[in-house]
Amino acid sequence: MRYLTIALPKGRLAKQTLALLEEIGISFEEMKDPKTRKLVFTNEEKKLKVFLSKAADVPTFVEYGAADIGVAGKDTLLEEGRKLYEVIDLGLGKCRMCVAGPRKAGDLLSHGELIRVATKYPNIAKDYFYNSKGQTVEIIKLNGSVELAPLVGLSEVIVDIVETGSTLKENGLVVLEDICDLSARMVVNQVSMKMEHERISGIIDAVRDLIQRKNS
Ligand code: PRP
Repeated sequence: MRYLTIALPKGRLAKQTLALLEEIGISFEEMKDPKTRKLVFTNEEKKLKVFLSKAADVPTFVEYGAADIGVAGKDTLLEEGRKLYEVIDLGLGKCRMCVAGPRKAGDLLSHGELIRVATKYPNIAKDYFYNSKGQTVEIIKLNGSVELAPLVGLSEVIVDIVETGSTLKENGLVVLEDICDLSARMVVNQVSMKMEHERISGIIDAVRDLIQRKNS
C-alpha cells in the first residue's frame, strides 16, 4: 500500500486540522516534539504522511500530486485557481474577502472611477472588479500589511481579508463592499481521487461526520 500524503498550511489552521485528524484516529506522534526540525511526518500504521507548507503553496502541492490531500483557505484556492477537487468546508478560519478603504472612497466605487486597488490577491480583485462589477481599476500587488496602502496614498481602496475587523477599525478604514465568505477547505488531487478512492473517501467521510457531529 502506498503512502497517502497530506499538505497542511503552517500555523493555526494546521494545528486545528491535526486536532480534527486526531479525533478520527489519525495522529503523527513525531510532530508533537516541539524541537523537531523534520519537515515530513509519517504514520506507519496507516501509511500516511503529512507536511506543512506556506499556505499559498498547498494548492500547488496538491495539483501536482506531491500531496494527495490538502487543507487551504478559500482565499488561496480562489487566488491560485488550481485544478483540484474541493471536498469539504471545514468551517475553520471563517472570515470575509472585502473591498475596504476610507469611508469617502465609497463614492469612487459607486461611480465606477478608475481607482487603484492594493491587494495580496490580484486574481480575486481582478475577477471582482472586471467580471462582477465591470469597473476598470489598476491592481497593485502587495505581500502583506495591505491596510497601509490607502493610509499612505498608494491606493484608494484595498481588497483584503477581514476577520474581526479590528485592523480596519484601528486604521480608520471601513468595509465598502463584500466580495465573498471564506473558510478552510479540504482539497484532493484529481488523479488521487480516482486511484485511491476508497482510502481518500474514508478520510473525507470521517472528517465530514465529525464536523456534522460538532455542528449539531
Ligand atoms: C490578515 C488580513 C488583515 C487582517 C484582518 O492579515 O490581511 O490584515 O488579517 O484581520 P482582522 O479583521 O481580525 O483585523 P495577516 O495577519 O495575515 O497579515 P498580513 O497583513 O501581513 O498579511
